[in-house]
Amino acid sequence: MRTLQDRLKDREFWIANALDAGEIETPCLVVDTRTMDQLLSLWRDHLPQVGLFYSVKANNDRHILRHLQQSEIGFDAASESEVETLLALGVKPDRIILSNTIKTRGCLQAIVRNRIPLVTADNERDLRAIAQASVGEWSPSVLIRLKVSPTDVQIDLNEKFGCTVDEARRLIEVADSLGLKPAGVHFHVGSQCWNLKSYRDAMESAVQLLDEENRAHLKIINIGGGFPDALTASKCGGLSCFFEGLAAIAGEALSKGYSVIAEPGRVLVADACTAVCQVIGRATHDGHEWLYLDDGIYGLFSTAYFEKQPFEFVPVRESDASPCSFVVAGPTCDSLDVVGKATLPSDTQPTAYVMAHRAGAYSVSVKSHFNGFGNIRTYVAAPPPATLASNPGGNTVEFVPGDALS
Ligand SMILES: Cc1ncc(COP(=O)(O)O)c(C=O)c1O
Repeated sequence: MRTLQDRLKDREFWIANALDAGEIETPCLVVDTRTMDQLLSLWRDHLPQVGLFYSVKANNDRHILRHLQQSEIGFDAASESEVETLLALGVKPDRIILSNTIKTRGCLQAIVRNRIPLVTADNERDLRAIAQASVGEWSPSVLIRLKVSPTDVQIDLNEKFGCTVDEARRLIEVADSLGLKPAGVHFHVGSQCWNLKSYRDAMESAVQLLDEENRAHLKIINIGGGFPDALTASKCGGLSCFFEGLAAIAGEALSKGYSVIAEPGRVLVADACTAVCQVIGRATHDGHEWLYLDDGIYGLFSTAYFEKQPFEFVPVRESDASPCSFVVAGPTCDSLDVVGKATLPSDTQPTAYVMAHRAGAYSVSVKSHFNGFGNIRTYVAAPPPATLASNPGGNTVEFVPGDALS
């Protein structure tokens, strides 16, 4: 049985070989579809009855979307452009939901044109806009997004989105009166949430509201995303343990006859991708050694800035030189463009390659072209990295509770 750490070693080996062979260019993101499959299986094993709609915003790379499409899951889109990307890949509209409560005219038209079956709203103006855009008899089913109060979450989105339970009751009436099809409620605790209490509390509010409403057509609870990557999950016993707890929370709603769906983003992609960069400069400032990479916070590493995510840089080629502490910065002229600190061989010089794992979420989907950088390629490292071919047992990864990736 291979552990996640083994899987990372396989990926590092693949990257070193691919660089040697001139098969990949930096900066790039290397996607390991086998790790994605393992994460997906872990979800499915624990939460087989929770409908899965991958949240495209976490990573909209076509390799990833195509691979997930083959896995026959649904998708959560946030805009007209994301809907069009999915349709172009052959995803059927009935496998797409749209959970952004802020909809442009183009987004409303895409919902109606493509008959996107389920959308979310948290205010009356949005409900009216959906009703106005709907044509003839057809309108989407609507979930009302509740504001929730999560604990232990990296990014809380509940200031910007959601409504109170009382407002949700009113919005259900409004939706009904507009001829829309209110179908249930939605919450999203935020991103990188490692405390199941956040989901338990939110689920209790959702179930209580729907129980009190007691209407046959209010049957769906969308528990959003926010599930942690493996390292963050190690704070609460690991991903298996987290999913087990989530399954118990979902189970209570399922046992009352509600359908439970979710929009995981980060958890399915973060640990499946590795960023590979080349060192393009080195300098000493105020006694500190600085390394400049061909990518930084305006590219694959925006979470270092927005979420204070620590990236651990690893040299692609081993060296006997003593370890040295470096400040790692991106290539742009902005002084904010600092990814973090790293311990790397003291002989690391321009042209050396470094890599950082846990780079799959909110990396390529957030990057910009600031200062003319950001031309980032993506490569798929599977089918099997060379080490796996000669390694029986290479098909399975064991997720050990507390398993951390860096
Ligand atoms: C409504 C909604 N659903 C799902 C997600 C995906 O979240 P995550 O990648 O943390 O799972 C987000 C991310 O912000 C979101 O806003």
